[in-house]
Amino acid sequence: MATERTLSIIKPDAVAKNAIGDIYSRFEKAGLRIVAAKMLHLSQAQAEGFYAEHKERGFFADLVAFMTSGPVMVQVLEGEGAVAKNRELMGATNPKEAEPGTIRADFATSIDANAVHGSDATESAAREISYFFEESDICPRG
Ligand code: TYD
Ligand code: MG
Repeated sequence: MATERTLSIIKPDAVAKNAIGDIYSRFEKAGLRIVAAKMLHLSQAQAEGFYAEHKERGFFADLVAFMTSGPVMVQVLEGEGAVAKNRELMGATNPKEAEPGTIRADFATSIDANAVHGSDATESAAREISYFFEESDICPRG
């Protein structure tokens, strides 16, 4: 499997639970390397732009309100099959359906406050990484 990069966001609910370290530990134990990271409090425009693909969905306004409700931790993860590996660590979007031991099973409270974001394909990963980071911000360690 190829070395890939994916975008991860630790959402406001998990940051508020002081779970950044626990979640980073899961990434690192699974062989994913954190190659860029920053904490930021998303503006309305940043959250709307990031989730533009969902703008027609009924949950969009609530999603944007949630994502701007507190600071988030944004990181680029790198490793073998990083996109799928991160999605596996995250678990299903709805924490009620997430496998035991996944990040969402352990930290998410509901489908809208679901602890983490992860890119769903290499194409969306490239777009999402460039939404937050310049190539020069990234420190590949592969
Ligand atoms: P989606 O891209 O479908 O899920 P994922 O984060 O697993 O890639 O949806 C983006 C976010 O939108 C999701 O993490 C939480 C929110 N959302 C809702 O609040 N309600 C919903 O019914 C869905 C599908 C998503
Ligand atoms: Mg998605």
